[in-house]
Amino acid sequence: MTSKYSKRELATLPFNNSSLDIESRVDDLLNRLTLDEKFKLLSGRLFYQTRSIKRLGIKPFKMTDGPLGISMHSSFFRKNTRFPGGICLASTFNRQIANEFGVAVGKEARSIGIHALLAPGINIHRTPFNGRTYEYFSEDPYLTKEIAIPFVKGVQSQRVASCLKHYVANNQETNRHTVSAEMDERTLHEIYLRAFMETVKEADPWMIMTAYNKVNGQYLHGNKKLLRQTLWDKWNFNGFVVSDWYALSRSDPPVSTEECLLAGLSLEMPKRNKYNPALLQAAHNDGKFSNEDLDAIIRRLLRVMFLVGLFEDKNSLPTGKRNTPDHQQLARRMAEDGMILLKNNNNILPLDISKIHKLAVLGPNKDKKFGKWLYGLSAAVKPPYEITPYKGLKNKCKGKIKIVSDPSSADYAIIFAGLNHDRRIKLIEINNDEKMAIGNDSEGSDRNQLELPANQVDLINQTVKQNPNTIVVLLNGSPIAMDSWLENVPAVLEAWYPGMEGGRAITNILFGSVNPSGKLPITFPKKITDSPAHQSVRTFPGIDLKVYYDEGIYVGYRYFDKKYIEPLFPFGYGLSYTDFRYNNLRSSTNKITKEAELNVSVDITNTGKRFGAEVIQVYSHDIESRVDSPIKELVGFEKVYLDPNEKKTVKINLKMKDLAFYDKNSHSWVIEPGDYKLLVGVSSRDILFEDSFEII
Ligand code: BGC
Repeated sequence: MTSKYSKRELATLPFNNSSLDIESRVDDLLNRLTLDEKFKLLSGRLFYQTRSIKRLGIKPFKMTDGPLGISMHSSFFRKNTRFPGGICLASTFNRQIANEFGVAVGKEARSIGIHALLAPGINIHRTPFNGRTYEYFSEDPYLTKEIAIPFVKGVQSQRVASCLKHYVANNQETNRHTVSAEMDERTLHEIYLRAFMETVKEADPWMIMTAYNKVNGQYLHGNKKLLRQTLWDKWNFNGFVVSDWYALSRSDPPVSTEECLLAGLSLEMPKRNKYNPALLQAAHNDGKFSNEDLDAIIRRLLRVMFLVGLFEDKNSLPTGKRNTPDHQQLARRMAEDGMILLKNNNNILPLDISKIHKLAVLGPNKDKKFGKWLYGLSAAVKPPYEITPYKGLKNKCKGKIKIVSDPSSADYAIIFAGLNHDRRIKLIEINNDEKMAIGNDSEGSDRNQLELPANQVDLINQTVKQNPNTIVVLLNGSPIAMDSWLENVPAVLEAWYPGMEGGRAITNILFGSVNPSGKLPITFPKKITDSPAHQSVRTFPGIDLKVYYDEGIYVGYRYFDKKYIEPLFPFGYGLSYTDFRYNNLRSSTNKITKEAELNVSVDITNTGKRFGAEVIQVYSHDIESRVDSPIKELVGFEKVYLDPNEKKTVKINLKMKDLAFYDKNSHSWVIEPGDYKLLVGVSSRDILFEDSFEII
């Protein structure tokens, strides 16, 4: 019989006793749930929350998007701090700032009673065309997990669940509900699963969202091997798995209720389809799943509900705060730390305010606001204000420099070019009748050309003819080809989507109060056919709803190295306004066991005149590998900030597990004994020192 409780009785039940350990509380609550109540908990309502169970005082578990901050569409129409995109965060190569961002966004969620953040997005940048490249971190699994781990820890320090997404191989938006990513086992583990695995093991995220797509023919939400057997059994994942929104109702062919349940899916969002109570009941009646199977997925959901304090007195939980000056300054610092100076001939930048009379400010992104309702879809965040580049420059130049639109009469011209979040293919008018299709950085569609829209290329080339001091600032979230204009301009700054304080951050960099220190987390190819995913339609966007990852583990710089292709800008690249000298590379030992850490040190001196930061990057190569092994793979980095003339010793600790490869024969990770090359540099193509060591 189902007990009815008064409020007072409820408060005395063991699961409400916060001095008991969490597992006992979960057990107690689980034992009190009826079958119907369990079914009710398995699906969402109102788009971003679960159903309440009043009898037991279970309140709705509330979730919110996403990777750039708390979205308006999932926070009851609130305006929240808009932080830079994931690709900008990764460009900082700064674990500390990733953690600060996690804490800040956790606080923003907490302040409005939200329990889970649907972030970080940690899919690997396989193709520059992916519409969601701006949300994700990198083409490299090591960098991805090094940014994801402190971020997740930061979010969860506020007792807000962080949800890793989209598990796994969600690397294109074209046919995202139906396409199957076809790849071998090594590639799946070594490139696409690796950051998920490491983040699960090191940061204990409380949620994982399955991807829309299939992997090797099978949808993720019904994939027992990749959910239960991998997440639960191999990686000891303790949280719960949620579907991507509407994934179960859009699967073709459909995945059955019991398949999802037996695979380990705890929550169907945003509303019932396969986890409709009638279907659940029928499958249960037919013996398609047992009570233990059901309890296994509910237990995980309940555990997270306890972790986020759903049953706690409000006063005992972190209160959180939103849109504070601190958060806005953090948004600015992230943008400043992540922007990348791609070109700076004759040190044209930074600009000297005392020597400029007129500045021409041009380009489609100069005054564009990116923080709009659903702009770019689920990652959209509408902030209370947004400093556009134009606004940032205007504030800076007030009373000192005249901003004009005619480049010919100006001391310098700055063109704010790039992409935007407009969805689908957009028809743009060029030269009266001529029309050209471009894709943009947005969920729901992929880009279809690497070049800037032709009218922007024209604008750059025309402007530079009128004024050789033309600087291009790019606002975009994925690589851009520049062959048709790069030679002509002296300076290019990659500003990404820099968030609500972006205009101020850009201005600070252009005028030199901040020295750029971002490094590319993704290779910029010269042309799309140089990119590993673009060798044929089969490799992108796929044939007959199958996309073949023929490049295997050779994604990003691994591919450019292997094929000796010169990229436009390599992974790890980025300039500074100052200079550095590096010397005295040493490592703690030249023989090391698999369990130990290798300490690599380098002395670095800022030999220029400005405060600045450098990212020392360590790559390794397995010399005697029994499997095909990339020429180099990132296995460590450290970012160091230096005053002029300051010298520091940078210490980088390498964990041997980061040098492991996935062995398809034993279906496990192998740290291979033998000789390894160490390559220490300041980009993947600028290696300063080589050394070697042996794993014994
Ligand atoms: C996206 C997810 C997002 C979810 C909820 C889906 O369309 O793929 O990343 O979290 O919607 O808004």
